[in-house]
Amino acid sequence: MNNECPAVFDDLYTSSVGAIVRSQTHYFDDTVRQIIETSVIPKGEPFTVGDYGSHDGSSSKDILEHLLGALKQNHGEDLPAHIIYEDTANNDFNALVKKVFCNWRESLNHQKVYLSMCPTSFYEQCVPDNTFHVLLSFWSVHFLPSSVSYKDSLNTFPDGSRAECDAMAALACDGWQRFLLIRAKEIKSGGCMLLITPAQDTDMKYGESRVHLQNLWVAMTTVWRLLRDLKQVTECEYEAANYPGYYRNEEELRAPFRDDASPVVKAGLRIKSLTLSHEKVHILTQRLKDIEQETEDKDDLESSVSKFVSAIRSWTEYMFMQALSSRSPSSRRDVVNTFYDLLVEHIKQQDISTCEWDNVIAYLVITKM
Ligand SMILES: C[S@@+](CC[C@H](N)C(=O)[O-])C[C@H]1O[C@@H](n2cnc3c(N)ncnc32)[C@H](O)[C@@H]1O
Repeated sequence: MNNECPAVFDDLYTSSVGAIVRSQTHYFDDTVRQIIETSVIPKGEPFTVGDYGSHDGSSSKDILEHLLGALKQNHGEDLPAHIIYEDTANNDFNALVKKVFCNWRESLNHQKVYLSMCPTSFYEQCVPDNTFHVLLSFWSVHFLPSSVSYKDSLNTFPDGSRAECDAMAALACDGWQRFLLIRAKEIKSGGCMLLITPAQDTDMKYGESRVHLQNLWVAMTTVWRLLRDLKQVTECEYEAANYPGYYRNEEELRAPFRDDASPVVKAGLRIKSLTLSHEKVHILTQRLKDIEQETEDKDDLESSVSKFVSAIRSWTEYMFMQALSSRSPSSRRDVVNTFYDLLVEHIKQQDISTCEWDNVIAYLVITKM
């Protein structure tokens, strides 16, 4: 790789949400160790890893460093490694290029590491059959190819109707099977997929809360309603904002693997491990604790909430942009800016020090026979 990088590229996502997800990927350390110890790579063949729904590539950094560093040590620097970063064509691939380029310059400087970008939805086949030894996808497979139209909610939570939630569950069921069947083609026999996805703990087997990020969706829905009540968005635009994400429960994640006759099992995929875990998003609360202890500086509180909302904005903004698509670009931009400004104010008015952003997260290891 050419190592000229003018400055370390940074952005809010990388240092906030990206850093949290990157720390979660250490859950897979044992699995990665096994991959390193057991991978058989015929001479001349590249070791190929994908990061699907990669956004800026920051969350897969630690795993890739560990995996490729150890494989190069075991098999020699000559081992070619190919990393394919995938996301939708709307993703900011320019940010990804800068981020990956600078990350790798800083941390891993091997010969024969080849990078590719793939701007294709993961509901389509993205690479030829039998490409991947390892496929990573973090916080992405909960995105569906479409959403239902919620009458008075942005998501199933807080106020999706029974019928809307059932329709979304059906879309999520189809989407999961479709995602898995395409991946079964792309992953080599003996390869595997490591997934982290926000989930639902329907039966509260793993803790007190059932839902994921509940306070976030209450806050976002409250502010979107406020814009409608202030007549800054029409009723039609209000209803057109729908989040195409769904938090599957354990039963729904396991469903395509339950029956030997299911297409996913027939295609060779198996769940090696599936763990649900309750985790707090410390993006806001931990930072605030630090501030309270260290400075009690109100400016820091402001910037901490703004930073949190900017990170959330990176994966929620497009649903408002779509809902406002009949407007001029500048009018759309104004409304969306107002929405996120109001969201910052709304969050600051809450008792933030006690406000937890509760997560239920599923960690999955899926192998291909
Ligand atoms: C919350 S971000 C997670 C980014 C990164 N993997 C991480 O863990 O920090 C979700 C990503 O999934 C991508 N995504 C959503 N739907 C997708 C699809 N159908 N195909 C590929 N990527 C998709 C989004 O564009 C976004 O970059």
